[in-house]
Amino acid sequence: MCGIVGYVGDRDATEVLIKGLKRLEYRGYDSAGIALIDGKLIVQKGKGKVINLEKGSKKNNLSGKLGIGHTRWATHGEPNDVNSHPHLSETGKIAVVHNGIIENYNTLKKQLIERGRTFQSQTDTEIIAQLIEEIYTKSKGVTFEQAIRLALKQIVGTYGLAILNIETPDKIYIARKGSPLLLGVGENEMFIASDASPIVEYTNKVVYLDDGEMAIVTRSNYEVKTIDDSPLTKEVHELAISLDAIEKAGYPHFMLKEIFEQPRSIADCMRGRIDVENSSILLGGIEDVIDDLVNAKRIVIAACGTSWHSALVGEYLFEQLAKTPVEVEYASEFRYRDPLIGKGDVLLVISQSGETADTLAALREAQEKGALVLGICNVVGSTISRETDAGVFTHAGPEIGVASTKAFTAQVVVLIMMALELGQRKGLISSDEMKRYIAELSRIPAKVEHILEHSDDTIKKMASLFTYAPNFLYLGRSYSFPVALEGALKLKEISYIHAEGYPAAEMKHGPIALIDEMMPVVVIAATDHTNDKMVSNIEEVKARKGRLIAIINDENTEVKDLADFCVSIPNTIDCFSPLLTVIPLQLLSYYIAVNRGCNVDQPRNLAKSVTVE
Ligand code: F6R
Repeated sequence: MCGIVGYVGDRDATEVLIKGLKRLEYRGYDSAGIALIDGKLIVQKGKGKVINLEKGSKKNNLSGKLGIGHTRWATHGEPNDVNSHPHLSETGKIAVVHNGIIENYNTLKKQLIERGRTFQSQTDTEIIAQLIEEIYTKSKGVTFEQAIRLALKQIVGTYGLAILNIETPDKIYIARKGSPLLLGVGENEMFIASDASPIVEYTNKVVYLDDGEMAIVTRSNYEVKTIDDSPLTKEVHELAISLDAIEKAGYPHFMLKEIFEQPRSIADCMRGRIDVENSSILLGGIEDVIDDLVNAKRIVIAACGTSWHSALVGEYLFEQLAKTPVEVEYASEFRYRDPLIGKGDVLLVISQSGETADTLAALREAQEKGALVLGICNVVGSTISRETDAGVFTHAGPEIGVASTKAFTAQVVVLIMMALELGQRKGLISSDEMKRYIAELSRIPAKVEHILEHSDDTIKKMASLFTYAPNFLYLGRSYSFPVALEGALKLKEISYIHAEGYPAAEMKHGPIALIDEMMPVVVIAATDHTNDKMVSNIEEVKARKGRLIAIINDENTEVKDLADFCVSIPNTIDCFSPLLTVIPLQLLSYYIAVNRGCNVDQPRNLAKSVTVE
């Protein structure tokens, strides 16, 4: 949610910033801007995509060796030119880019106005520039760095900040509370960014800022300290991601690339963790806490969006395979209802980005109450991955498309491995059963590949028939219910078609009223033990002339005969089926969105990493 980039060094800062903003655009894309110091402080910004900013910067021949940039997902104030970042102080000497929300901005703004300051924008960010300037100019003997610290003391809320001051033209000041920021360390050059994507092509050395920290960055040095001015020595980490992983590699959209990457991302997630020969699983990240997990009275899983859907799959898995009671919570609800959680409980948080504000808050709440907190994250170095007591990375590679695809399947793979390991340690899974599970798990990447190869054309055709349907219903039972929710979410977020997911049996309790000859109903009927029941639900849809799209497994001929359109997937063990059934649904939503001319990778109103509540 909003992207920040910064550069100081010998390169053309405009080029580095614009390139960086393009890579960060998935985090927010309603407006973009840069500020450069080149003798004077120059700002170029405006509503719309980074490409507009690039055109404007070229037209105005912007240059400089030091600058900051921002791509915005609006919170305070509509997306327009004035509300775009960077924001300037009244004298125009200080420029600020900000990710996060200043909760007391109204109070601070009123006070600043009463003291004579005038504001240009409706944003909360502008008060930061104004407040720093007021403190800096009015308090005798206060350095600019001290002024930043004093201003931050007055601010309530979250921030990732990069600040320039024309009076200190060789420095970028950054600070973090609740919004990620990292520093890329190069040879006589430094980079700043909200995540590693703008940095990977220049350096693999990064320093992650933690909450309550700030840094003063010049081309040859960086000084990290707490907001209270205590110096810190930070570890320099090595980035493991490559440039290829964050480029489209010939695909028209990141989303399609990421859907097609799933055979590999699923295999990467299992690599070194499942041992087919010995039928065993080793999850190094939770080895130290595995006894606590085995002895846990219950597991609570908290997450948002797609990650919440994989949490639901996790509930079924842990209860079936490990007989551990599970509750699944929306992280946003969990954090605010004084949840009953404590010693002996495990909170498992799931997050692709590792930065989702509500999930992070749920984690902290449970930690405070004494629960063991585990994480499943994709982004290495992310805040959630650093704050959990232990966890498992999904290793799906960077997910750039705003709609989550390969992260979902990788999360489900981790949950499967965790549930199997737990079940085995609890003596609930025999070695023969384990052998069968592991052997089948190792076949999943090839089965996903098969679906991608054989179903792509059928789904494209189906998508063209349903491109202009105003509503969709998705139905599934058991392991296919979370998949129904995920299919509906994918469709609504990228094609803006209203879609609902339901447990198939719930249809009779209300949604059946919606079904007529105009309503496409997607049924996920690929889990053997619920198939008979699904057939009855399908009959009910047919009786009301609903248009039936069925995701079936190879053996399900009964549904095949009933459905108007079918996508057949290879057979698998029921509890692994979400890894296969979700693939046609991802493709269906993708092709419908493309047919409707939607911006698939950057759907309206959304942002990839939801770092504000
Ligand atoms: C849907 C989607 C969102 C995220 C949600 C949680 O396609 O991308 O619903 O799943 O914002 O994000 P993470 O997993 O990063 O915590």
